[in-house]
Amino acid sequence: MEEEPSKSKQVSGFSKLSKRGKLGWIVNNFFKDPELVMKELVSYWHHDEDEQKIIDGMSENTISNFILPYSVAPNFVINQREYAVPLVIEESSVVAAASNAAKFWSERGGFHARVISRIKEGSVYFLFKGNFQVLENNKQALLGEIKSGCKDITRRMDERGGGILDLAFEDLSNEEPDSYKLTLYFDTCDSMGANFINSVLESSSKILERWIYSPEISESATTYYETIMCILSNYTPRCVAEAWVTCPISALGKINGMLPDEFADRFYKAVRIAQIDPSRATTHNKGIFNGIDALVLATGNDFRAIEAAGHTYAARSGKYSSLSECTIDNDIFTFRIELPLSIGTVGGLTKLHPIARRSLELLGHPSADELMMILASTGLAQNFAAVRSLVTTGIQKGHMRMHLQNIAWQLNATTEEFAAIQAHFADKTISYADVVNFLDNLRSNNGVIAQ
Ligand code: MEV
Repeated sequence: MEEEPSKSKQVSGFSKLSKRGKLGWIVNNFFKDPELVMKELVSYWHHDEDEQKIIDGMSENTISNFILPYSVAPNFVINQREYAVPLVIEESSVVAAASNAAKFWSERGGFHARVISRIKEGSVYFLFKGNFQVLENNKQALLGEIKSGCKDITRRMDERGGGILDLAFEDLSNEEPDSYKLTLYFDTCDSMGANFINSVLESSSKILERWIYSPEISESATTYYETIMCILSNYTPRCVAEAWVTCPISALGKINGMLPDEFADRFYKAVRIAQIDPSRATTHNKGIFNGIDALVLATGNDFRAIEAAGHTYAARSGKYSSLSECTIDNDIFTFRIELPLSIGTVGGLTKLHPIARRSLELLGHPSADELMMILASTGLAQNFAAVRSLVTTGIQKGHMRMHLQNIAWQLNATTEEFAAIQAHFADKTISYADVVNFLDNLRSNNGVIAQ
């Protein structure tokens, strides 16, 4: 006989409990030492109740705050402007790598960046039985109706110079019977615009329905329309920025002991491998997003949206590939990235989150275009640093050195023990097992290192 699943941890009305009530229920039901855990989680509450209310308001069922380091990578020069880039990330080496690459390129002309275009989009998916060609032929009239019918929603965006730009129909009925798509294109100025786009789409679906049944469009009594859903697309192939660095190969200098010509060749090859091999491309692009996500988070933007768009863009040729490319032309080394970056610098969390606000201040209150360029440059810096390590010393040398502190903490090393660990591993390859052995050895010899 099958055992009944335990219901002891099912709860109803959890969301109605006070914050302390929720926390109490969680610690009592899921932890061995409820009192200790309660104390610990409460200790991460913000001391200012108003600030805490703002943070709690960002989600539901909050019981504490989850802390991540807030770091800065200085020495970025992008289009001749200097920046210190704020980064929220939990992985060691990322900030050091970004800072290092930023400094390296600041001495070689800095990063160059440009927004290729900043058009966002969303679609009404619908079922339709009728003459699709008539919809196609009359779409400009529909655009006019949507623009005037959505005036209430778009007024402020229109005043800021944005709004609804255009529309397009797409026939999906070959793959799913009677299925079609109406895509609207938007300029959302400096805002990410997700709510704006979704509101316009929902109103547009009603306008579309009326329009389709109107005598001008509906050719017969059998015409049928039904909205399936209205949603923005996180794939924004028309909201794209590029960044690049370039210099004569000789100006690269010696890199991690490697001569510039050899370095440039090996670097070029490594990027080519990421272009042709999806398995490497995934890791290569992950390195890019180490930097981009960290800055997206620090500025209160949606890193899931940015990642989703980036990976789809990386597969736009039909095969998943690198987001960056390297060229060597007449002894000039150029490294370039291009990717979609749908972000905002006004509205949403950018104003609400106290530290996101500071991040934008630190960056000099950038427009959305400027932040897109900083993001692309940060991704490129991260990618340059990772590939530079990979083709010279290997990634583990620098990575494990940065990781040494985390290992020491995990092993509860004292300050003196950490100093001994650092000295011992200064010229050695670091592995977790080796640090454990070293520390065991040190402790069993009362602090004297056995040779
Ligand atoms: C680690 O977080 C990121 C790297 O693996 C990126 C890469 O391999 O290019 C170092």
